[in-house]
Amino acid sequence: MSQIHIMNLQLPYCFCFFLLLQLPFSTNGQAYTNVSLGSSLTTVGDLPAWTSPSGEFAFGFQQVGDAGYLLAIWFNKIPERTIVWSANRNNLAQRGSTVQLTADGQLVLNNQSGTRIWTRPELGGSGAAYGAMLDTGNFVLAGQAGANLWQSFDEPTDTLLPTQNLNLGGELIAPYLEKNYSDGRFKLILQDDGNLVMHTTAYPLTTSIFAYWTTQSSIGSGHQLIFNQSGNMYVVATNGTILNPVFSNSVPSQDLYLRATIDYDGVFRQYVYPKTASGGKRWAMNWTTLPNSIPSNICLAISYSAGSGACGFNSYCTLGDDQRPSCRCPPGYTFSDHDDDRKGCKKTFISQDCDHPSQEIDSFEIRDMPNTNFPYADYEVFSPVDEDWCRQSCLSDCYCDVAIFIDGKCWKKRGPLLNGVTDPSLRDKALMKVRIANWTAGSSAKKRDPSALIVTGSVLLGSSIFLIVLSLLGIYVFFTRWNRQKRKVIPQHHVIRDMNLQNFTYNELETATGGFDEELGRGAFGPVYKGTEQSKTTTAIRGTKGYVAPEWFKNLPVTTKVDTYSFGILLLELVCCRKNFEINAREEHQTVLADWACDCFKEGKLNLLVEEDEEAMEDMKRVERFVMVAIWCIQEDPSLRPAMKKVVQMLEGGVQVSVPPDPSSFISSI
Ligand SMILES: *[C@@H]1O[C@H](CO)[C@@H](O)[C@H](O)[C@H]1NC(C)=O
Ligand SMILES: *[C@@H]1O[C@H](CO)[C@@H](O)[C@H](O)[C@H]1NC(C)=O
Ligand SMILES: *[C@@H]1O[C@H](CO)[C@@H](O)[C@H](O)[C@H]1NC(C)=O
Ligand SMILES: *[C@@H]1O[C@H](CO)[C@@H](O)[C@H](O)[C@H]1NC(C)=O
Ligand SMILES: *[C@@H]1O[C@H](CO)[C@@H](O)[C@H](O)[C@H]1NC(C)=O
Ligand SMILES: *[C@@H]1O[C@H](CO)[C@@H](O)[C@H](O)[C@H]1NC(C)=O
Ligand SMILES: *[C@@H]1O[C@H](CO)[C@@H](O)[C@H](O)[C@H]1NC(C)=O
Repeated sequence: MSQIHIMNLQLPYCFCFFLLLQLPFSTNGQAYTNVSLGSSLTTVGDLPAWTSPSGEFAFGFQQVGDAGYLLAIWFNKIPERTIVWSANRNNLAQRGSTVQLTADGQLVLNNQSGTRIWTRPELGGSGAAYGAMLDTGNFVLAGQAGANLWQSFDEPTDTLLPTQNLNLGGELIAPYLEKNYSDGRFKLILQDDGNLVMHTTAYPLTTSIFAYWTTQSSIGSGHQLIFNQSGNMYVVATNGTILNPVFSNSVPSQDLYLRATIDYDGVFRQYVYPKTASGGKRWAMNWTTLPNSIPSNICLAISYSAGSGACGFNSYCTLGDDQRPSCRCPPGYTFSDHDDDRKGCKKTFISQDCDHPSQEIDSFEIRDMPNTNFPYADYEVFSPVDEDWCRQSCLSDCYCDVAIFIDGKCWKKRGPLLNGVTDPSLRDKALMKVRIANWTAGSSAKKRDPSALIVTGSVLLGSSIFLIVLSLLGIYVFFTRWNRQKRKVIPQHHVIRDMNLQNFTYNELETATGGFDEELGRGAFGPVYKGTEQSKTTTAIRGTKGYVAPEWFKNLPVTTKVDTYSFGILLLELVCCRKNFEINAREEHQTVLADWACDCFKEGKLNLLVEEDEEAMEDMKRVERFVMVAIWCIQEDPSLRPAMKKVVQMLEGGVQVSVPPDPSSFISSI
């Protein structure tokens, strides 16, 4: 799982590198202005292409990961090789496929066994005399008289280029994901009635479901969507009158590449890319979004009774600082598919038992989500009531998954939740009902210990599972040796070096806590501060100003009894607090190892991890317990993570540790 993820992380680089290798400006200066009959391209070898005279556009095969090849047109002079059109996005060609302009003038895509899987012009018509990749990005098949028999501009996929117009009935379908070009969940269509509309689709079908943006006023008279050379886009009537401006950005097209694309998130955007470094003084050397994307806030725009909304079921949509929507899971929920955040979220806990609601009443709690609503999906509404009434009503109702409270009204809703959105303009407060964590078999769940906050914070701040698992094993190994040597003083620097711990610098801590803004309380080893990381969840950083790890060791009450376990917890905290928000390529190795550790745990082969330590081998139960505790501590859902007190009990063996949920979904999400 993590391997897949790592691949994704590296894809942009590998992909570009690969293309640079494979397409060394593939034409070597030759301008394929005219593709003559009999010409062909294949997916075998160095992927040659038919380029436009300027070299700015090319037609040929593009490799899509390991999945196959796309017969496509792309911007050929920029490293990104951005695809603007494709023939077979729902049916990738495999290695050995070819595209040929046949002797009888058909442009044919054959699969590796020679079967035609795509042909233009449609069979029955007369064949082309030649084909040509034009500098506009249009690939044309011309007849004997030079007239176009077919052009790619008439069959757009998700992108329009300047001078490419959309006729009545013409549509763009968003890709499924950024790097998955198959038909996605949104489309833009110039309807036969002249109305330009953006729809959600009944995925996996492409039929329209809900119109989330439209140019109403062109109904009845709209004739064509024009995208002119300078970037203006508008709907015109038959007589040429502009009925509706769509984009009014005007850009110097001689300096910039320009495209309008309906992205996988359902937003129609205009992008520019400087043609040369000097032409791009104002612009970064990558695709920049022009102002006024459509719709301006898709999170609020999509809301209807039969569908999930802008994001998947049970998730919520929110606009980031970059004005792009992102899909997230509410407390107590996690992504159904970590590689596809638009597939929605699932509960991480067992729903309330309707047969014995009274026995379960203390097992649930409400988490507040301000400025949040889940329109539709409600089954009951109460008014006038106060917020506390609303909370209690949801808690004691086994059907209720969330209650929305606003202005004395309480709407109870049940899953799957629809149209979730968090936006500052909303005054609604979502009261999410989640099960209180129950991580130790046989012990009843209690109200969460405030010290759980520390673990929550620590775990939110740290994500290096490998380090946690390894250090727990390390602690074990260290202490068995330490006990053997009957040493009384903790060799702190030795430990720090061996664990390869990274200390926090003062600056890192200052940033993480917003300048030690809010002190939440004082623990045994120092104050606890509220964190301010992007997650905007309450996090806590424990420590004193300055270098934290040494401080902690300095403050360690060596005169009191320091047993294996409390020292272990201390180390666990240290390891968890390692500032490590981004796992990058360098840490690939660690992630793989973490995965391996978890696999070993799942398969009951923990001894593989401690192969070389005989003493550890002797006490596998203990090691297993450590690993299970570690896995509980790194659960994605904070409510599942044990409180510090419980961690102590679990490590000591006083409480039986239940088998934790599969952590691999968490690993893949890092
Ligand atoms: C392209 O090829 C066709 C057929 O060989 C020929 O008639 C036509 O003149 C050529 N056009 C150009 C621009 O070379
Ligand atoms: C080629 O396409 C045909 C028709 O879709 C299909 O039956 C055949 O299995 C394909 N061949 C390969 C090798 O995929
Ligand atoms: C794109 O996503 C669809 C839907 O999940 C999936 O069936 C398809 O295999 C994906 N294509 C690629 C190239 O990953
Ligand atoms: C594009 O359309 C806008 C609005 O009609 C117009 O002002 C502009 O001159 C046009 N640009 C070109 C190159 O035709
Ligand atoms: C062009 O067509 C539109 C809509 O059909 C109409 O309102 C407008 O008067 C026409 N303009 C001219 C100059 O004919
Ligand atoms: C665009 O390029 C600039 C500079 O090359 C870089 O700072 C920025 O992060 C890039 N943006 C994206 C979205 O890649
Ligand atoms: C916690 O889980 C155990 C077993 O998984 C179960 O027996 C117990 O009833 C649960 N406790 C609560 C309060 O849900």
